[in-house]
Amino acid sequence: MSELIKLKKELFNFIRPYLSSIIVAIILLLIVSSLALIGPIIIKRLIDVDIANGLYEGIWVSAAMYIAVKLATLAGNYFQMYTLQRVGVSIMCDIKLKLFSHILRLPLKYFEKNPAGKLISRIESDTETLRQLFTNTVMTLFQDLLMFAGMVAVMFYLSAKLTLILLLILPFLFAGAYYIQRELRVRFKIAREKASAVSKFLSEYIQGMQCVQAFNYEQTSKNKMGEHNEEKKGTFYFAEVLEIIFHNSILLAEAMTLSSVLYFGGAMALKKELTIGTLVLFIGYIRQCFEPIIRLSEQFNIIQKARVAAERIFEILSLEAEERAEGEISVASDASASFRDRIEFDNVSFSYDGGREVLSGVSFSVKKGEKVALVGHTGSGKTTILSLLLRFYNHTGGRITIDGADVSAMKLSELRKKFALVLQDVVLFPGCVMDNIRLLDDSISGAEVEKAAQSVNMLDFIMKKEKGFQTEVAERGSNFSMGERQLLSFARALAFNSEILVLDEATSSVDPYTEALIQDALTKIQAGRTSIIVAHRLSTIITSDRIIVLEAGRIVETGSHEELLAMNGHYRKLYEKQRAGVEPPAETEEASDGGFEESPEQLDAVAVMAGGFSQIETINEDAEDGLKNASAE
Ligand SMILES: Nc1ncnc2c1ncn2[C@@H]1O[C@H](COP(=O)(O)OP(=O)(O)OP(=O)(O)O)[C@@H](O)[C@H]1O
Ligand SMILES: [Mg+2]
Repeated sequence: MSELIKLKKELFNFIRPYLSSIIVAIILLLIVSSLALIGPIIIKRLIDVDIANGLYEGIWVSAAMYIAVKLATLAGNYFQMYTLQRVGVSIMCDIKLKLFSHILRLPLKYFEKNPAGKLISRIESDTETLRQLFTNTVMTLFQDLLMFAGMVAVMFYLSAKLTLILLLILPFLFAGAYYIQRELRVRFKIAREKASAVSKFLSEYIQGMQCVQAFNYEQTSKNKMGEHNEEKKGTFYFAEVLEIIFHNSILLAEAMTLSSVLYFGGAMALKKELTIGTLVLFIGYIRQCFEPIIRLSEQFNIIQKARVAAERIFEILSLEAEERAEGEISVASDASASFRDRIEFDNVSFSYDGGREVLSGVSFSVKKGEKVALVGHTGSGKTTILSLLLRFYNHTGGRITIDGADVSAMKLSELRKKFALVLQDVVLFPGCVMDNIRLLDDSISGAEVEKAAQSVNMLDFIMKKEKGFQTEVAERGSNFSMGERQLLSFARALAFNSEILVLDEATSSVDPYTEALIQDALTKIQAGRTSIIVAHRLSTIITSDRIIVLEAGRIVETGSHEELLAMNGHYRKLYEKQRAGVEPPAETEEASDGGFEESPEQLDAVAVMAGGFSQIETINEDAEDGLKNASAE
């Protein structure tokens, strides 16, 4: 119960700014409700006064009054609904925005447990349900109650006896309606759950269409859908039938009430206890009474749904957002200063789930200006190290410091501002290329974006598109090739001009030609920056100052390319494996006997040649020189 009160309080906070508009709507509602009562009174007057006394002019006046009242009702209704809908939509947008801005600050862990579809439905349909509750249900319910009370009062004034008879019948009708309604609700809930199972099925299959078609899975998918349908048919059908039964029983109840009024009222009219006009007024009111009862059935559902929606919305809003460390510790102010000295991982350990350690005892430091690379088998913890550095997750043991300040104590936005991050999976947003590079940050000029694109060898690709920088990026960037997407993410990192480059190289392979472009772009981004690079293609990092080799969450080797090769350990094995993938096996044999004498440029050249030299036309000068030298040797 206290939960419910809290819920109402929180909802009220959203409503508060619009209180004056809501009061206007309520006043209009009062006027409209009173006007609605007047219609049958005019008819009564027409019958009892004008017709009974043969007043021709009175009939004319009554008819005119009737239309005037109706017009006033419609106008009042219009303004009331207009005010209400405007407020409703505004409140809904406020809640949506608040929800989204809160979700933006939730820790990544949350998103692993809550799939996108679920969160989207929180933001989209739950807020919509609340709007409906506010604009339709609460207000109409209020109006219906008001009208009902008004009608009973008028009827009571005109004939207390007939009204009492009616009031005796009504409770039974309400009880019946409530019972059927309750049954319906349970059935509908089951039907809805089954329907959502169908839509989940559909969404999975439609999203995986390529796979479905590639594996000739169409017929099986169709059969599965058929099974789903068959299973649900009964439920859907039953719910619809119940709905008809409910509707018809209300109509029956209405007829029963009316016939009671006709019987008792008719008898009373005969005895002159009641005028004909009053009898007609009763009939008019009763018909008006039953409309809201029919409406009530839908409203029960909305109220129920809205309660769940509100609970879910506030559940998200009550989750702790990430900015909690804001200004927590005095070093936070230090964090805004530029990067001066070093990043230090000191005996860091981490586990995603509180169980298995994904990193243990990881210690290394990166001095300003250094180029450090992380290598290791898949799953060895490379991406995790980067995630901890940017505090997407909080490390569970040890210390991570930047210039001596613990990252856990830094304000997140300050911390992340230091880094230009290139993620392993390139993320592109809806919008044009320009917006995707500068992420709508207006402080980055168009010229800077172009320069960034030029530096990462992306300008030609962009300019080849009809609309250049204004080219819209399709969903998940599908109108750009894998390599182009990587270059775009480089351009983004470069445009933000942060001091430390953190790059998680994409595992997806690109053709050797693009690889050479990427390699060249990388060299340019690294110039004058501190960088930590996770590399899958070892050719990328041969020139690094230091290479850290990870194995199952531990550092097993550290050193320069040459030092590590000389160690004859993990790194050398990794390196040889990759080389074997590029060169003919016979040569690998020979090379592993005689050691590695090829320069990094040579290795790149081999890779490019494997992809066919003839393709290279627009390769930029730096890369071209490197390649020429290498292949000339
Ligand atoms: N969000 C997560 N929740 C739970 N476990 C995770 C999560 N992300 C990664 N892991 C696990 O942590 C370990 C290290 O993963 P990580 O992504 O750091 O590997 P990686 O070295 O970057 O691999 P790759 O070369 O394939 O990118 C893996 O065993 C992985 O299964
Ligand atoms: Mg990774």
